[in-house]
Amino acid sequence: MRADTQLGRFWANRGEDGIKREYQLLVDYLCNAAGGPMYYTGRDMKLSHQGMRISASDWDIFMGHLNATLDQFTVPRAERDDVVNFVQSTRGDMVEC
Ligand code: HEM
Repeated sequence: MRADTQLGRFWANRGEDGIKREYQLLVDYLCNAAGGPMYYTGRDMKLSHQGMRISASDWDIFMGHLNATLDQFTVPRAERDDVVNFVQSTRGDMVEC
């Protein structure tokens, strides 16, 4: 996503440490939502993405990268649907315009 021409702006000029922290929080968040054992210490999705002006078009591109990743690792259908449905359920907290 950082290398994507449209989405890269969200991570432009951010320090490496902040990016690593966000990556770890993302792992914790997804593992916690999937039933653990990781404990999520970050902020909720609405609060942490509010004001970024993530658009419907940004979201569609993001979902394209998610699907490409699931393709890359040939994730089986049932697990794939679980991941996509869970992520899609957060859309309302992310997309502002
Ligand atoms: C187009 C889609 C998305 C964009 C552009 C985006 C962008 C970002 C950015 C820039 C941050 C850092 C915020 C900060 O340091 O203040 C962040 C944090 C985070 N994002 Fe996203 N995000 C997207 C979708 C998602 C999705 C779908 C999830 C999970 C299902 C997610 C989970 C998180 C988590 C767990 C954090 C850390 C929250 C915290 O710092 O407490 N993001 N996101």
